Formats: sequence, structure tokens, C-alpha cells
Amino acid sequence: MKRVLIAGGCGFIGSHLCDRLLQRSDVERLVCVDSLWTGTTDNIAHIRDERFRYFQGNVEEFQSDITFHEIYHLASPASPPWYMKEPRRTISANLLGALRLLDLLEPNGRFGFMSTSEVYGDPLVSPQPESYRGSVDCTGPRSSYDEGKRVTESLLFETRRLHGINVRIARLFNVYGPRTRVDDGRAVSNFVSQALSGKPLTIYGDGMQSRSWGYVDDIVEGITRFFWRDSFDYLGPLNIGNDREISVLDVAKYVAELAGGCPIVHVAPTPHDPTNRCPDLTIARQILPGWDCKVPYEEGVRMTFEWFRDRMDAEPARQGIRVPFAGE
Ligand SMILES: NC(=O)c1ccc[n+]([C@@H]2O[C@H](COP(=O)([O-])OP(=O)(O)OC[C@H]3O[C@@H](n4cnc5c(N)ncnc54)[C@H](O)[C@@H]3O)[C@@H](O)[C@H]2O)c1
Repeated sequence: MKRVLIAGGCGFIGSHLCDRLLQRSDVERLVCVDSLWTGTTDNIAHIRDERFRYFQGNVEEFQSDITFHEIYHLASPASPPWYMKEPRRTISANLLGALRLLDLLEPNGRFGFMSTSEVYGDPLVSPQPESYRGSVDCTGPRSSYDEGKRVTESLLFETRRLHGINVRIARLFNVYGPRTRVDDGRAVSNFVSQALSGKPLTIYGDGMQSRSWGYVDDIVEGITRFFWRDSFDYLGPLNIGNDREISVLDVAKYVAELAGGCPIVHVAPTPHDPTNRCPDLTIARQILPGWDCKVPYEEGVRMTFEWFRDRMDAEPARQGIRVPFAGE
């Protein structure tokens, strides 16, 4: 039986991962630590499983009497307005969080880390394979996140080299879906919350920048297979995402249509916003046969729209929330 720790389990993706972990019969205890910086206990309020324990606090300072057979580190904001506001805190969550969590790992335990396509920066090749070393500006406004992820990857691979731990690093591309914050600040959630609040949809720049949006159920399925379900010999980081590129403008038009028509306005581009992002999924398809992003964006955006609408209907106070800017 396994003791499992998840850091960032009250977040968008982390809460979906908690649900998947609790479906496992070999999990004896699931401990979730989350500071509630960008997450919310609403995301775990449905969990009634007595194996589950939640602790509020920073992962960097988390104290535990027990060690864990598996640790999944997701504690970090993913949305640019949030991490750009608090870069020091972002680096700390990723790097110092990983250092603390390594102390709590059983010898020969498994450490899963949620890295990002942002390690590729503003890529000069498309699609981006895992071997691409990236075009990252280490002094730029997104660097706390990009470099925080890169140095944490380095820490984990070097710890494996020296101490033989089992490391799984997933490089996620853009993910969207239910349990995103209304004020998350990235394109899909921005457009949906603006449309539902009767506001114009704001596009940063001309909207021709492309993204590969993966619906959360598809992405979480890929993560669970990579982190614990499938067996393979591959040791490197793995791209997990949707390789169907859609322009930001197309998504805005589709959300406007779902809302019965609303204006779209263009504003100044976000600093250092990558022009394209598309995963090379060759390795994912080899080691996770049959896995793919199956939910088309039209269906995924519609399901997200309906989830936001139900949530905003239930909590009208949230409707006045300030929507910052689209990014990652
Ligand atoms: N959502 C995406 O599109 C995307 C893309 C690439 C990578 N990722 C990575 O996946 C992970 C989860 O992303 P998400 O979209 O669920 O983000 P999220 O912001 O919804 O979740 C992150 C969670 O971590 C918590 N947290 C942050 N700092 C913490 C700290 N110091 N101690 C304890 N808890 C802390 C937050 O409160 C939140 O619950 C992140 O590591 C992110 O970098 C996400």
C-alpha cells in the first residue's frame, strides 16, 4: 500500500489528479498540501474519502512525520498574471518546494513533477520535441516561471543521477476546463468569464498567436498513465498536450458565438507572449499507446462555458471579479 503526497492539490489540475489518485485501491493515504495561493478548497470539497488529508500551507515549509512512496509536485501558479506578480514566490514554490519534498520521499520512491512547455520559451522550432533546448530569456518578465521550472527539472534529474530516485517530469502545454479560476487570466477562461459577464472579449495583439489547448480530462489521463499506470523504459521529460493548434482569435470567435454574440476588442500584446506552442507528441504516442487528446476544442470550450455559467450563477459575487490578461 502506498502513501502519496500531492502538493498543489487544490488547484485546477491538482484537484483532478486527487480524484484519479483516490480511484486507486493501492493508495493507503493521500496527503494534499496547498497554500491556497491560486487554488481553492472548492475544488476538493466533493472528496469524502477517509484516506484523504488536506493541510493548508506552503509546500516549502511542510512538516510531516511520515515519508511517502510517491510525491507529485504541482505547487506553482500556471497563469502569467499570477506568477508575474509574485516571481520570488513562484521560484520558491517550484524549487524550494521540490527540495523540501525530496526530503519526504521514501528511498526508491517516485517523484512526479509538473513542468511546462514554457521551458521552450518563444520556440524557434515547431512542433517542439523534448530534445529542443528552448529559447528562454532568463531576465525576462516570465523568467520566474520558465527558469523556476527549468532549474527544478535539473534538480530532479541530477538527484536521480546521484541517488537513483524514480523521476517523472511532464511538460504540459496549455490546459483548460472545469475548475479553472474565473480570474485565472488565460485566454479560454478570460473569454468565457468576459462573455458570461456581458463584457467584450479582449484579445492581446492580433489574436493570430496559436496555442494547443488540451481539455483537462485528456491531459489528466495522459498524466496518470505517465506518472503511475503505464510501464516503459523512457527516462526523459514528456510532452503532454494537444497538437491541434488553434489561434486565439478562433477561440474568441467561438466563445462569442456560444454566448449568442458579443464584441471582440484588440489591446496591446502581452510582453514576451510566445507566437506559437505546439507539442511534438512522438514519444508520448510511443510510450502511452492509444493516448491522445480526444475532446475537440469546440466540445471542450462548450463544457467549460457551461461549467463557468453554472458556477457564476451560483456565486453572483464572483461576476464582478477583475479579469487580468490572457497569456500562457
Ligand atoms: N494549467 C496549465 O495550462 C499548465 C500548463 C503547464 C504546466 N502547468 C503546471 O501544472 C501545475 C498545476 O497547474 P494548475 O493549472 O492546476 O495551476 P493552479 O494555479 O490551479 O494550481 C496550483 C496550486 O498550487 C498551489 N500552490 C502554489 N504555490 C504553493 C506553495 N508554495 N505551497 C503550496 N501550494 C502552492 C496553489 O494554491 C494551487 O492550488 C503547475 O505546476 C503548473 O506550472 C499547468
